[in-house]
Amino acid sequence: MELEVSWLFQFLYTSLCFLVSSFIISSLTSFLVQRVRTKLWCNCEICHTYLTSGWSNQFHNLCDWYAHLLRNSPTKTIHIHVLGNTITANPENVEYMLKTRFENYPKGKPFSTILGDFLGQGIFNVDGNLWKFQRKMASLELDRYSVRSFAFEIVNCEIESRLIPLLSSVSGKAKSNGNVLDLQDVFRRFSLDCICRFSFGLDPRCLELSLPMSEFANSFDLASKLSAERAMTASPLVWKIKRLLNIGSEKQLRKAINMIDVLAHEVIRQKTKMGFSSHKDLLSRFMRTVKDDTYLRDIIISFLLAGRDTVASTLTSFFWVIANHPEVELAIRVEADRVIGPSYERLTSFEQMQELHYLQAAIYESMRLYPPIQFDSKFCLNDDVLPDGSFVKRGTRVTYHPYAMGRIEEIWGSDCLEFKPERWLKDGVFLPENPFKYPVFQGGLRVCLGKEMALVELKSVALSFLRRYHIELVEPCHTPRFSPGLTATFSSGLKVLVGERV
Ligand code: HEM
Repeated sequence: MELEVSWLFQFLYTSLCFLVSSFIISSLTSFLVQRVRTKLWCNCEICHTYLTSGWSNQFHNLCDWYAHLLRNSPTKTIHIHVLGNTITANPENVEYMLKTRFENYPKGKPFSTILGDFLGQGIFNVDGNLWKFQRKMASLELDRYSVRSFAFEIVNCEIESRLIPLLSSVSGKAKSNGNVLDLQDVFRRFSLDCICRFSFGLDPRCLELSLPMSEFANSFDLASKLSAERAMTASPLVWKIKRLLNIGSEKQLRKAINMIDVLAHEVIRQKTKMGFSSHKDLLSRFMRTVKDDTYLRDIIISFLLAGRDTVASTLTSFFWVIANHPEVELAIRVEADRVIGPSYERLTSFEQMQELHYLQAAIYESMRLYPPIQFDSKFCLNDDVLPDGSFVKRGTRVTYHPYAMGRIEEIWGSDCLEFKPERWLKDGVFLPENPFKYPVFQGGLRVCLGKEMALVELKSVALSFLRRYHIELVEPCHTPRFSPGLTATFSSGLKVLVGERV
């Protein structure tokens, strides 16, 4: 018996050693292949500044340094050789990668591996047929007029029953009474409630501040942050070994993902129990076709990521910009009084909201300067040459950079750094721009599916907030500082004092 146990132990030990060493060898091989395509070390000025973080002496954020480099590049394209990354702010290149040669610029394996544990096979993380299926299903639903008015109903219910009571409870109270509100936190809670009600027909009640932030929301934030941090390690080998040994940040990530899985499966179980054939939410619509629970879980997570952080981030920067531009705030209120009437007790209808051209222009202008997704990368499948003549090597990254594009004179004119909603209006009517000049919602074949829903949410919050309250920034600053992550987040939140309008 003793002999058998020791034999078994030896067998398990040898197998484990074999697995670990094969993993390390295969990871090293892929690391070397990747490095042959990129460069181990490069002493050009840009790479040197990147490697030594020298940019931080002059700029608050990495994206500001990239914007500076791209503005000064004659082609509006730069190369970070050590990252194997071609970064572009050239609209022709953006159109080429997102539309003309879409097939040559998929998300690619490195991206889907980094986010694979968190997002699985959800729409954000897949290419090919898996993407086509989810895209088709979701666009059939999200493009319907009825879905937009469903979104309008949910958003306005959340505003009336939670957001306004919350703002009323803190308005007019002095800073010394501890009534400083972090609007970024409020918007994150608000958008999570909205997207959960819209996507699953379930209400996490995150905006009820008396309740602790749900465990799901905390695990979701942590998983999103730690997954983004994987992309910042010098080599994927680092996080892969940590994952194999289940240590450090990878241990935390696994724990957060386990929690997300348990709760996502609970959502699916509840929906199955409630019956989903007649429900209007997106999950019920998917459940009528998809029978695999893991796949459903992945679909859920991608929609949460798509619809939550982007909206919260847009609202945060919008209110920061508005607090710095009282003349725009006034113009929004004047337009609302004219179109809707002076009483703000009832929110406008979905149709009436389409007539608020100045409000839409102010929101677009805020996203031009502060896009919630500041940059977005694809992988080049085969060697290629971009329209501006930049050569792109197979297997390397190509990134388009909406944040930098909003700051380029050749695209937006000499006043590009100014916040001017009027640039979007012609005779008082909102005119959209070419999506490759303004790829805030991406463009081409993978253009955002939730744009209309997002606009309903953004306009409704802006309107009900600005007509009743004004805000004062507690820590005024000229340039926000962002935390690293998948979407732009103010690193110290957005602390404000709220006052009721008289
Ligand atoms: C201001 C708010 C929003 C912005 C700026 C935004 C922006 C974007 C961007 C840049 C992408 C491309 C991401 C990539 O492929 O890497 C995207 C994709 C997507 N967005 Fe949005 N989004 C917003 C809100 C929403 C909302 C509310 C929803 C859901 C209801 C949504 C659903 C999606 C989906 C499903 C995709 C994937 C499309 C595909 O891969 O084919 N988005 N969005």
